[in-house]
Amino acid sequence: MEGLSSMQSFSIHHCVLIFLTLTFTTASVSAAVCSTSVKLLQPVILSCEHKCSASVKWTLFQNRDVVFARCDQTSCTSQQKGYTMSHDQYLKGNLSLSIAAANYSERNTYTCECGVSDITTVRLSIETVFSAVQMSPAEDLLLDLSVPEPVKVFYRSSDSADDELICNVTQSSAQCSSKYTSRTSLHHPQLTLRGVTSSDSGTYTIQNTKYNEDIHVYNVSVTDNQIPWWGIVLMVLLVLVLVLAVIGWIKYRKDANYRLFIKVSKQLVDVNALVNKAQSEGNEAVVKAEKAIKKLKEQYRENPTYSEQIQMFCQGKELQLQRCTGEQGEALILTKRGVRSMMEKVMKSLEMLSEDGEGHLQGNSVTELEQMEQDLIQILEWCRSSTNPQSSTEVENLKKHLEEKCIQ
Ligand SMILES: *[C@@H]1O[C@H](CO)[C@@H](O)[C@H](O)[C@H]1NC(C)=O
Ligand SMILES: *[C@@H]1O[C@H](CO)[C@@H](O)[C@H](O)[C@H]1NC(C)=O
Ligand SMILES: *[C@@H]1O[C@H](CO)[C@@H](O)[C@H](O)[C@H]1NC(C)=O
Ligand SMILES: *[C@@H]1O[C@H](CO)[C@@H](O)[C@H](O)[C@H]1NC(C)=O
Repeated sequence: MEGLSSMQSFSIHHCVLIFLTLTFTTASVSAAVCSTSVKLLQPVILSCEHKCSASVKWTLFQNRDVVFARCDQTSCTSQQKGYTMSHDQYLKGNLSLSIAAANYSERNTYTCECGVSDITTVRLSIETVFSAVQMSPAEDLLLDLSVPEPVKVFYRSSDSADDELICNVTQSSAQCSSKYTSRTSLHHPQLTLRGVTSSDSGTYTIQNTKYNEDIHVYNVSVTDNQIPWWGIVLMVLLVLVLVLAVIGWIKYRKDANYRLFIKVSKQLVDVNALVNKAQSEGNEAVVKAEKAIKKLKEQYRENPTYSEQIQMFCQGKELQLQRCTGEQGEALILTKRGVRSMMEKVMKSLEMLSEDGEGHLQGNSVTELEQMEQDLIQILEWCRSSTNPQSSTEVENLKKHLEEKCIQ
């Protein structure tokens, strides 16, 4: 916001020699007219240096009856609000006029008079005000004309070098070019341009018609979204990082599943090898295999993917171990039952042999005899490895029975 700074304003001050026709004389005299410009609402000093023993006054150049401030040997008085002179300075020959906060109604040409002589004439102007306006499409652009006098409104698009006169505005009416007529309305001192689009971006200049002074320049930017470019870049980067992270995580999980599968497979193969070894080597290997099975069961008890498969696998392997050791009661009974049925089968075959005699021998008897022989070998092997004394007696009975049959 220009003009609100509390600093002493920077003002441009220069003087030119021009011919003035003074209202109270018929003669043309030359006088210096100085220009001073000040930022809106900033204090400003209109300079006038002259050793003056008479009374001094600051008047409106065009109408000397309008007095702003005056001084004489005793004191200084302000004739209008906002204008002051200093008596101390007056005594030193400094006849400057101070304005506390310059506004548009104070743009005037002022004359400093000593007695009946003009000392200085100063034209005060207000510096151009610049505003930046950020807008979204379809919003209304409000242009503050700021001044009561007639103004022209110019538009220059961002990519053009030329100003285009779009409206002539007075207090009572706005005459705009056909392109703008339907979109503009005037509520002095405000001119509204309705429903802006991005093609309305650019600078709008309010210029007073009489002096061609730029009063206010609006730098308007109409953009579709308020997020700056770096915000979009940041969001895109963020999304990219997120996507990469998710992909990485999925890949890691997939790899983890695969690694677990390989690990489980290897463990199963190892346990299987241990069980096989136990079947051929006995005690020590059996203990080792049992430990391995137990460890495997424990390790995967809670695993959602493998717990069931591992439990089944382990049960199978445990059964295999029990069968080979025969340590567990149930396994022994099963085996004993198997042996007993084998014995019965052998007995039956023997009986059939003895009943049918040679006739049966000629048919399937060769294979049946071979089968019987194998069964016998198995029975004997079982008996040799088994420690159950009852089994031995049964086998003894069987032996005896066999012998009887064979003798027959
Ligand atoms: C301009 O300044 C004068 C003197 O300070 C004040 O009386 C007047 O109201 C001001 N005008 C505006 C438009 O602010
Ligand atoms: C003249 O007086 C004004 C105050 O009225 C003061 O601000 C200014 O500095 C003085 N100028 C000089 C040259 O002393
Ligand atoms: C504004 O006024 C000038 C002359 O004063 C004229 O040439 C111009 O066409 C006018 N523009 C509009 C938009 O009325
Ligand atoms: C208007 O604003 C744009 C960006 O905000 C800037 O590049 C340009 O220089 C400004 N123009 C004027 C005349 O201030």
